Amino acid sequence: MAQHQSNPPLRPGAAPAPIVLAGATGDLGFRIAQELLKRGAAVRALVRVGNTKPEVTVLQDLGADIVPVDFNSVTALTKACAGAACVVSALSGLREVIVGTQKRLLDAAVAAGVPRFIPSDFCIDYTRLPAGSNRNLDLRREFNQRLDQAPIHATSILNGMFTDLLTGQAPVVLFGLKRVLYYGDADQPLDFTTTANTAEFTAAAALDPTTPRYLRVAGEVASIRGLQKAATAATGTPFKLLRVGGLWVLGTMIKVTKTLMPTTDDVFPPWQGMQYLHNMFTGLPKLTPLDNARYPEIRWTPVREVLAARK
Ligand SMILES: NC(=O)c1ccc[n+]([C@@H]2O[C@H](COP(=O)([O-])OP(=O)(O)OC[C@H]3O[C@@H](n4cnc5c(N)ncnc54)[C@H](OP(=O)(O)O)[C@@H]3O)[C@@H](O)[C@H]2O)c1
Repeated sequence: MAQHQSNPPLRPGAAPAPIVLAGATGDLGFRIAQELLKRGAAVRALVRVGNTKPEVTVLQDLGADIVPVDFNSVTALTKACAGAACVVSALSGLREVIVGTQKRLLDAAVAAGVPRFIPSDFCIDYTRLPAGSNRNLDLRREFNQRLDQAPIHATSILNGMFTDLLTGQAPVVLFGLKRVLYYGDADQPLDFTTTANTAEFTAAAALDPTTPRYLRVAGEVASIRGLQKAATAATGTPFKLLRVGGLWVLGTMIKVTKTLMPTTDDVFPPWQGMQYLHNMFTGLPKLTPLDNARYPEIRWTPVREVLAARK
């Protein structure tokens, strides 16, 4: 696997072209901003007008250029993208954001002559999933079709599931019951990457002008049996497996949950998380080949370490 310099060479005396970051006040975006700053990059964080989150002050204190901007205006976004080396999106939302806002940001990047764009994908490999199998991933596919038609170099980063979710949100490792719950095959390999590792990799990729269209990473590839071992090692207590049924059982549960739940504009309603797990358990969106070795300075955090650090 080739290893890559993440910092492009600069003309002597020239200031580095900034990395424009949208979504810098979010969980992933805030970490990407910090990783970029650690690497000596100039960061221009586009934030919504009136955003008073503490992250804004922290990033400003760390040296980021904070630019409040009207995300509904391509003209304003174009001005905000001027002179950038790359636009990174860590936005989160439904159609209005993933297709709408990101398309305006893309149009602005193209109009401003920015050479590179990294969309807010950060998920399992939706390119290998049939359309219609996951609402949130369908939105990414739709945006990326537009991105592929734009005169800009695009790189999507695919990282599987954030490992951090295993300590709470994802109902897989049940700490109270000492069980690892699953559907289908306990030996199906699954991709996990921490939010922190995803941010490090994204920062390195943003500073690397030679990135391909897709970069795939997994901090750890673990099957359900692997999670069982990790949970046992992390807690010092034996975990058992709990197979609820085949994938069709989970599929039925998703349908029932969707029917019973009122329509919501929540980005991650319970059925969305279940759908994500269903997709992973099918093995279709398994990430391969992995680009983990591309930036050798990154140390990938294993699942066991994340489970052990659970508060
Ligand atoms: N693979 C996984 O397991 C996994 C898990 C979680 C997330 N993700 C992905 O990671 C990415 C980032 O998610 P996150 O959890 O960091 O999201 P988050 O914490 O909710 O942050 C979202 C960011 O987007 C901004 N934003 C939202 N709507 C906007 C709009 N209409 N105009 C301008 N800015 C807007 C927010 O700004 P404000 O501060 O103004 O609200 C915030 O900075 C997403 O692609 C998400 O799907 C992946």
